[in-house]
Amino acid sequence: SFSSTVPKSVLGVPTDHACNISESVASRVGRNLHLLSNHPLSILRSKVEACFPDFNVFSNLPPVVSVQDNFDRLLFPKTHISRSQSDTYYVNENTVLRTHTSAHQYQLLSSRKDPFLVIGDVFRRDEIDQTHYMAFHQCEGLRMFPAGTSVDNVVNDLKTSLERLCRSLFGMAAEMRWVDAYFPFTDPSFELEVFYGGKWMECLGCGVVHRDLVKNVSRHPEIGWAFGLGLERLAMVLFEIPDIRLFWSNDSRFLKQFEEGKISKFQPFSKYPACYKDISFWLPQDVQKVWSDNDFFEVVRSIAGDLAESVVCIDQFTHPMTGQLSKCFRINYCAVDKTLTNQETGELQEKLRSTVVSRFGVALR
Ligand code: PHE
Repeated sequence: SFSSTVPKSVLGVPTDHACNISESVASRVGRNLHLLSNHPLSILRSKVEACFPDFNVFSNLPPVVSVQDNFDRLLFPKTHISRSQSDTYYVNENTVLRTHTSAHQYQLLSSRKDPFLVIGDVFRRDEIDQTHYMAFHQCEGLRMFPAGTSVDNVVNDLKTSLERLCRSLFGMAAEMRWVDAYFPFTDPSFELEVFYGGKWMECLGCGVVHRDLVKNVSRHPEIGWAFGLGLERLAMVLFEIPDIRLFWSNDSRFLKQFEEGKISKFQPFSKYPACYKDISFWLPQDVQKVWSDNDFFEVVRSIAGDLAESVVCIDQFTHPMTGQLSKCFRINYCAVDKTLTNQETGELQEKLRSTVVSRFGVALR
């Protein structure tokens, strides 16, 4: 992996050599957008909570969790790719920024807090475009039933509850379909898709809590269901919010538009001009071995912050003689709330060029 400056601690938890959290990511931890009144994520959170009136609600659990809670206790195989440094933010060897709110299932089941909802921020290393951001929000739900309840009855209750949730969000006429899915901690597992804006949209993942998990929290022979839904994706279509960075904007022209309890359409402020800049470089063979595009995206975010709208790899090839890999990325610099000057984007690009050289040891072309 590549060296970079990391914070000394994240929410009070000390970092170590395994930390891959940049200052820009750390600055997103604990913003709690889902608790800001009049914020679309908070409006959506209230709507979901209203659908599960008898559930205990946990909306302020810290996002720094153990590797055990995020992966092991949810029966993720030791080799599962989502555990890798290129997919997950590690605070230290044994601690991560939760990649999903399912990270709280084990503890809350053990302490018998069910039925419960968990709403909070989750973090994943990912690409950069209008619908992906390193931090987003999820809502988890879990309900247990007495021993002797059949799997069929649990699945039926799960499906009816979630169809009711979708109708309350998308309208009574919402067209839905169930798709088989796989999660290590549910069996059977499903996804619910909604037909919206002319296409099928994945809306949530769910299933019957895996029997091994139920055993491990000493709740055997009870049985139950769980679901997890991403708030941004739903909010983007329901409120017609075109860019995921807007959720993080402090621009009053954004926040002013929304009102608690109401799903209203976002009135976009004018779209600011895009500024495309390309960067290409050679990766020596030793660098290729440890390279992940996500490391590059991270550097873009740490330099340009939310001024980077998208990053796309537009070309790559291997030199037939030297074995060096050439990569070319196209960055679209475009703020959600202002026009960037040539000088601003030029300076960002220069800083990016020098940083990739010093951080990764690549050769600019
Ligand atoms: N945690 C899963 C995800 O992030 C969603 C999920 C939650 C699936 C609960 C099943 C049960 O994709």
